[in-house]
Formats: sequence, structure tokens, C-alpha cells
Amino acid sequence: MVSANSLDPNLTEFDLSAYLEERRPQVEAALDAAVPMQYPETLYESMRYSLLAGGKRLRPILCLASCELVGGNPAVAMPTACALEMIHTMSLIHDDLPAMDNDDYRRGRLTNHKVYGDDVAILAGDALLTYAFEHVATATQGVPADRVLRVIAGLGKAVGGEGLVGGQIVDLASEGNPDTTLETLNYIHNHKTAALLEIAVTSGAILAGATDDQVQHLRDYAQRIGLAFQIVDDILDITSTAETLGKSIGKDVAAQKATYPSLWGLEESRRQADKLIDEAKAALDSFGPASQPLRAIADYIVARTY
Ligand code: FPP
Ligand code: MG
Repeated sequence: MVSANSLDPNLTEFDLSAYLEERRPQVEAALDAAVPMQYPETLYESMRYSLLAGGKRLRPILCLASCELVGGNPAVAMPTACALEMIHTMSLIHDDLPAMDNDDYRRGRLTNHKVYGDDVAILAGDALLTYAFEHVATATQGVPADRVLRVIAGLGKAVGGEGLVGGQIVDLASEGNPDTTLETLNYIHNHKTAALLEIAVTSGAILAGATDDQVQHLRDYAQRIGLAFQIVDDILDITSTAETLGKSIGKDVAAQKATYPSLWGLEESRRQADKLIDEAKAALDSFGPASQPLRAIADYIVARTY
């Protein structure tokens, strides 16, 4: 049987920090160029305030890495990588609004609506969401149109009622109900978190011309890192500090939300996250050593402290 760590143990250790340090500035520069300041200034200032506020840039980096994994030039995936970050950012702008989580801090600074007001924050989110799709359609170069269409359709599915929006509404409805079942909790996070990670990983590979088999392996990987990511998020909401996370903590308990630690306890939650990461890495076995960046990112997801 293929084990979770079946890669040659003699392979030199992959330097994820160096990899991320190389990729992050490329993503930052592409985002900066994709959404330049223009009229109406208030709108674009607000969009850029949140889009260029740092962050792990995990979704774009996963997209570029999966493109490279199947032999593509990561440049062809950069517009999609930027679109993923635009969608992620807009979902956080809207999530932080008073009508939803009513949060004051994000990525170590005031939330968008605290600076620009609810009206502008809603519109900045709307503009980022719609521009994301336009950007993939107009800026992707050197890729057959049918692949670009597949990516656009996949993005739409991942963010709409069958994706982020669906997960968010069930999440909001479960507030104040600490008896939420594991099934509902899994639904929330498979949609609110894992769906965007899944299209991040699969879109890069689709643009590079991956086979259906390769896309399926990457989907298996992404679904598992997505759930593990959320379990770790729940753990950090209890064990970390507001300074480290750049946002308020203890919110799940305050909102009487069911979380993985509240259902399983902290130790079992960590065990489940580790198990998912092992399974995620096993899903990459057929790619061989070229999958090292994605494996290292999977490890980083459980080891991260923010
Ligand atoms: C953070 O969750 C929020 C999300 C991951 C996504 C929320 C989705 C929406 C607001 C829907 C947006 C609309 C579209 C069209 C995509 P959290 O509140 O658990 O985490 P936090 O502590 O970082 O706020
Ligand atoms: Mg929130």
C-alpha cells in the first residue's frame, strides 16, 4: 500500500520558506498591477486597502504550484491566482460587516467597513468579486479557451450557493446553537473554506492541461487540506493571541458556535488535522518529487501559528 510519506526519504528537504518568499512578492506585484488606483478613487482605495493588506496568499500560491506541478508555466495561472485572492478578500470584507461577524480587525489592521463605512465596503467587495471573473477571462494568455471556461465555471460554483455563500449562511444560522452536529459543521467548512481551496488547487492544473485523473488527485488533496485548515483555525481561535492572528480571538465561544475543538476537544482536533494532512499528501503520490511544494504547504497548514 502507498503510505502518506512514500516519497524517497533521501530527497533533500524542501525549503518552503524560500519558496513562499519567492512567490509572495510575485503575487503582491500582480495584485497591485491588476487593481490600479482609478476613478472612483474611494472605491478603488477601499478595494486596494484590503487586497494589498498582506495575508498568507495561500490560495494564489497553491494555484501557481499546481500549475507548475503538471508542467505548466506558472505565469499562465497568475490571473486566476489573483482572482482567487480577490474573491477571498471580498469574502472577508463582507464577513467582517456588522450584519455578519461585526469584526473590527483583520490582518492586523482595521476592517474595511471601519475605515470606509459599510456602504463602501459592500461595494468594494462586489467590485472585487465581479472583477475577479473579468480578470480571468481577459488577462489569461496562452491557454486554450475551453480550459479558461472550465476555470471560470469552477470559480462560480466555488463561491456561490453551492460554495462559500452556502457555507456562510449555514454558519450564520448555526450561531447560538452549540448543539450543531458534526455533519453540519463539515458542511459549513467544506463550503466556506475547502471549496475555494479546491478550485485554487485544481484551476492551476486545469490551465496547465492536467488529465482528469490528475485533477481528481489534486481535488482529493485540496478537500483534505481545506478541512484541516479549518480545524487549525478553530484551534487557533482558542489557543492563539489577537496580536499573532491580526484579528480578534475567542469569537467562536462568544458566538456560541460549535467548532471542532468543542465537539472533539483540542487533542483529538489536532489528531484529526494531522490525519487529514497525511491523507492529503498520500493523494499526491502519483506526482512524485514534483509534488514537494504542495506537500510542504500541507504540512505548513497544520504547523502554522497564524
Ligand atoms: C471567514 O470565516 C469567512 C469566510 C471564509 C467566507 C465568508 C463568506 C462570505 C461572507 C460570503 C461572501 C460572498 C461571496 C460572493 C463569496 P470566519 O468568520 O469563521 O473566520 P474569521 O475569524 O477569519 O472571520
Ligand atoms: Mg468572521
